[in-house]
Amino acid sequence: MSDKTYPPSAEFSANAHIDAARYKDMYAASINDPDAFWGEQGKRIDWIKPYTQVKDVNYDFGNVSINWYADGTLNVSANCIDRHLANRGDQTAIIWEPDDPNDAARHITYRELHENTCRMANVLRDLGVGKGDRVVLYLPMIPEAAYAMLACARIGAIHSIVFAGFSPDALGARINGSDAKVVITADEAPRGGRKTALKSNTDAALLHCDDRVKCLVVKRTGGQTTWTDRDYDCTALMSAAATECTPEEMNAEDPLFILYTSGSTGQPKGVVHTSGGYLVYAAMTQELVFDYHDGDVYWCTADVGWVTGHSYIVYGPLANGATTLMFEGVPTFPDASRFWQVCEKHKVNQFYTAPTALRALMGQGNSFVEKCDLSDLKVLGTVGEPINPEAWNWYNEVVGKGRCPIVDTWWQTETGGHLMTPLPGATATKPGSCTLPFFGVQPVILEPTTGAEITTTEAEGVLCIKDSWPGQMRTVYGDHERFEKTYFSDYKGYYFTGDGCRRDADGYYWITGRVDDVINVSGHRMGTAEVESALVAHAKVAEAAVVGYPHDIKGQGIYAYVTLMNGVEPTEELRKELEKWVRTEIGPIAKPDLIQWAPGLPKTRSGKIMRRILRKIAENDYGALGDTSTLAEPAVVDDLIENRMNRS
Ligand code: WTA
Repeated sequence: MSDKTYPPSAEFSANAHIDAARYKDMYAASINDPDAFWGEQGKRIDWIKPYTQVKDVNYDFGNVSINWYADGTLNVSANCIDRHLANRGDQTAIIWEPDDPNDAARHITYRELHENTCRMANVLRDLGVGKGDRVVLYLPMIPEAAYAMLACARIGAIHSIVFAGFSPDALGARINGSDAKVVITADEAPRGGRKTALKSNTDAALLHCDDRVKCLVVKRTGGQTTWTDRDYDCTALMSAAATECTPEEMNAEDPLFILYTSGSTGQPKGVVHTSGGYLVYAAMTQELVFDYHDGDVYWCTADVGWVTGHSYIVYGPLANGATTLMFEGVPTFPDASRFWQVCEKHKVNQFYTAPTALRALMGQGNSFVEKCDLSDLKVLGTVGEPINPEAWNWYNEVVGKGRCPIVDTWWQTETGGHLMTPLPGATATKPGSCTLPFFGVQPVILEPTTGAEITTTEAEGVLCIKDSWPGQMRTVYGDHERFEKTYFSDYKGYYFTGDGCRRDADGYYWITGRVDDVINVSGHRMGTAEVESALVAHAKVAEAAVVGYPHDIKGQGIYAYVTLMNGVEPTEELRKELEKWVRTEIGPIAKPDLIQWAPGLPKTRSGKIMRRILRKIAENDYGALGDTSTLAEPAVVDDLIENRMNRS
């Protein structure tokens, strides 16, 4: 870790929304009088009926309830589109860059966004979708994904996006989990020159769903698909639909979307975000963290299947009337220059990506960056995992030419928006640190076992947040008890993040990684329990334990210890079969990087798997296994060490 600091230039600060002095004043105001502060910030968006209440929050375990602007009404889609029409009807809302650079990019104005969103909303209404109904989206990164999100918001339906890299099984579980009426998909998703057959994946998923679920199919490639009675041609229906659709009046606390995310136990949970507070928070952070100014072109490279795509491709930027770029492809297709070519082509001013992408591109050499004109870049951002100083320095020097502040944004699906991050005109950065809290956010570091707050400036422990902010998740879909148990039971009176954290002598925060059984693979969050349950669902597997280990590009890799059924031979073929099995059960992102055949797993006498030991062996750090005296069969460990897969 490096403690070298990089202050913003005087010139940058002078033109920024927030400079150091203003950050200090505004932060103090946000903590001293949250009602007044957020009451004022709520005016960033348009309300149908203005709120008179601001914050109404209870963090007491057993009675957790989180409400913001609770008596206000609004429509999120009208905020992201209609209110901009008078002044920005002809301004580009979305720049769409397709997978293949030889295909034409598209510039969709706010007026066109309005027309297309209304058409899609009318199609959904005609299919019987109304306020409060759930709609699952399983789409490529195409403009229709944004239309569909905003169309749901317009008619008060709740969308649940499933990343297009997930398998039919995962999709089916999400459709059933939220009792969705409609699933919106596309024929095929082109990515990196290859095509994923989304429609046939959807067909496979729907085999396990209620017959009444309807399927709306966007024609992206025109590729061959089978067609059944429940399928509707979205493209044709949209062209026939009316171009006006009155937005539904929604309460601030009506759900806007559900997004499934991994936890340390069990299957992924449906994180619920609501309308008013979420939009205020997404809009405010997008403007201030990226120092977005009118006329800028802003690009977040995430997929709308993740929370980053929700808040920072669609809702935040569009609420601000920004121009947001949506990219269908991957950083390395046709070659490792693609990101930078897109930046040059569309004159991108703010660029936001994940450390894993930077590490992969860094490894390809600087020439891919250097041949592009990146002079329009002003701010660079990262998200999803800790960034190692080497990648940070490369981003700063090679991409930003030392003149673009880097914002390392720490946040979670649950938080709706950034919680700790530099503000580019205000905060001196340190490579690898997410620096300081955003307005209204009070991070605390607790002693992990006692839960006592560590009040010294320098501290290390588990990261909790003391009070609420408007973008916070409100519940787990259909399971409020699980919500309270996951986030409010271990450390009473706080929101528990699941992350470990260090605070340095300057009060800067450094995320040290998850303290639970969640791993972060290429910036994708995954529960080790999910991969384990996929593995044990295979007929030849008796038992499995999955842990993360450090991986140069992915941040963390997936390491699986597998015990086979009695009499089953461990072969290379079986290893491949298990890899394929996990891909089909969950999706390609969950494929184990290393599978070790384990004759037994280290367990306590009460039968609990000792993951600490498995993590150490996977890290190739087997000299420091710590206390193994409680193991039922210590010899198991010797075998695991001897046959370890990671010898780096
Ligand atoms: C990790 C992604 C270090 C962290 C928005 C968190 C980070 C989890 C950072 C949430 C960062 C995210 N520095 N770690 N800047 N950003 N994380 O829900 O462990 O997919 O708890 O949300 O990613 O992942 P999620």
